[in-house]
Amino acid sequence: MKLIVDFANLDQIKELYAYYPIDGVTTNPSIIAKEGKNPYEVLKKIRAFIGDAAELHVQVISREAEGMLQEAHRIQKELGANTYVKVPVTKEGLKAIKALAADGANITATAIYTQMQAYLAAKAGAHYAAPYVNRIDNLGADGIKVAKDIHDIFKKNDLKTEVLAASFKNSQQVLELAKYGIGASTISPEVIEGLIKLDAVNCAIDAFVKDFENLCGEGKTMLDC
Ligand code: E4P
Repeated sequence: MKLIVDFANLDQIKELYAYYPIDGVTTNPSIIAKEGKNPYEVLKKIRAFIGDAAELHVQVISREAEGMLQEAHRIQKELGANTYVKVPVTKEGLKAIKALAADGANITATAIYTQMQAYLAAKAGAHYAAPYVNRIDNLGADGIKVAKDIHDIFKKNDLKTEVLAASFKNSQQVLELAKYGIGASTISPEVIEGLIKLDAVNCAIDAFVKDFENLCGEGKTMLDC
């Protein structure tokens, strides 16, 4: 499962990249708005940092297919061919996905709440389909089940599209989908940190260090004992 960070703050992205095995960056209009700067200024800096080979996902704003296509071309021109154009799966979005797929563009179908949206987007040529796990849960449905169903639908119908699960509220949801073998998850910095935050691990390490220092002296390591 690829691990993609769902954020647009460059300093925080740099910090996460320094520690974790991250495969790329996703954004949405709300995430970009938090930076309070021109979107292309923010995105170009992210692209320069992650490099041309890494995945960067950027969403279109238009509600009509024609506008989505124009935005997609600008996004790719500004940010490179390895940029995934995020298209919300509406009727107009499906029209845009079909046209972009015919053009050979990288496409992430987004704002997915139902299995049928994902199936249609995959048939239309999207490379990723992004179900919103937590937002689906908040509607009283089961976001993890929707993501798993979509994964199964793709496999059973021989569709090459991968699930890019999105909108997580905790690390348990991410692990559940990793166990299921979905293609990718996009996660906020808080949830990424939550994947590794375990008091038991810190307690174990504290005990090891204490025992070693009792033997060799305070502050000593295997380097200077
Ligand atoms: C990804 O495509 C979505 O934009 C994102 O994961 C939504 O996350 P949220 O529901 O936490 O805003």
